[in-house]
Amino acid sequence: MGYPYTRPRRMRRDAFSRRLMREHRLSSDDLIYPVFVHDIDGRAPVASMPGVERLSIDELLRVAEQALALGVPALALFPVEGQAAKSLDAARAWHPEGLAQRAVRALKQRFPELGLITDVALDPFTTHGQDGLIDDSGYVMNDETVEALVKQALSHAEAGADVVAPSDMMDGRIGAIREALEETRHIHTRILAYSAKYASSFYGPFRDAVGSAGNLGKDNKYTYQMDPANSDEALREVALDLEEGADMVMIKPGLPYLDIVRRVKDEFGAPTLVYQVSGEYAMLKAAAQNGWLNERACVLESLTSIKRAGADAVLTYSALDAARWLKEDAA
Ligand code: PBG
Repeated sequence: MGYPYTRPRRMRRDAFSRRLMREHRLSSDDLIYPVFVHDIDGRAPVASMPGVERLSIDELLRVAEQALALGVPALALFPVEGQAAKSLDAARAWHPEGLAQRAVRALKQRFPELGLITDVALDPFTTHGQDGLIDDSGYVMNDETVEALVKQALSHAEAGADVVAPSDMMDGRIGAIREALEETRHIHTRILAYSAKYASSFYGPFRDAVGSAGNLGKDNKYTYQMDPANSDEALREVALDLEEGADMVMIKPGLPYLDIVRRVKDEFGAPTLVYQVSGEYAMLKAAAQNGWLNERACVLESLTSIKRAGADAVLTYSALDAARWLKEDAA
C-alpha cells in the first residue's frame, strides 16, 4: 500500500492556498436590496421577517443612503397599499401619483446613481391579491392583464425607474412591455424578467408584508406561476423572455431551485438573477434567533452558493447585513 500522490487537503491546509484556489467571491456588487414602502409615516416591522420594516418614503431615503454607502448597486421597490388603493381593475397600479411612482421620483432625485428596480404586477392593487385581472370564475385573464401591466411599467419608466421587473408570469408580457417602452422612447429602461417564478410557499412572509394574501382561493397562483416539480419548463420560459427582449432573467426562489439556476446559466449565458425570497430569509432568521444557526455564516454561505450555481446577482433581504459583513471581513 503506497501513499496518495494526490492529496486535495494540501491546498486546503493554509489560508493562502485556500484563497488562491477560491472560485467564487461574493461582493456587495452582487446584491440587490428589496424594500417595502408604505404610505404612512415612519417604519413598521414585518412580523414574519424580523429585521425587515415597511418604510415611509422619508425612511426609504435613509435606507437608500445606507445601501449606497455599503456599495449595494440597486434597490427593488415593493409598495404596500392600503385598502383604498385596491380595486378589481387595479387602476392605482399606473397612477402617476401612486406610491411606487412617488417613491421612485424621490429616490431618483436624491440618489440618481442608485439603481432602481420596480415590481410590475397587480397583486398590491387587486382586492383579491392575484397578480392579474380575474374573470367571473376567478381565473386570471392573460391578455387583459398584460394591457394593465404595460400601463404600469410605462408609469414606472416615466417616474424614472431604471429597471422594470414583471413578476406576474403572464404570457407575452415581456414583448408587450418592451414594445411599449421602445415606442415611448424609453430605450434605456431595462427589463428584469421574473422568468422562472415558481408557485412557491416560500412567499408567505412577503404576502404578510404587502398584505396581498387576500383570498387567493384554492387555485392560489398555480394557474400562472410554475409547478415546483418542473425544470424543462423553466428553460422554455427563459427562452421566451429573452426572445421578447428581457435584459436579465430571474429564477425565484433561490436555494431550493439552484439546479434551475445552473441549467439556465449554462443554456443561455444571459445575466441571471436569483431572488432569495422572504421564506428563505425567515427560516434563516428564525433559526438564528433561536441560537440554532450562526446567521452571518449561514447567510454568506447561502449567497455564495447562489453565485456558485450561476447567478450574477441576488435579491436578498440580507443585502445590507451581508454587505456590512463583507466590508468587515475585508478590513
Ligand atoms: C408578487 C410578488 C411576490 C414576490 C415578489 N413579487 C409574491 C407572490 O408572487 O405572491 C415574493 C417575494 C418574496 O417572497 O420575498 N408579484
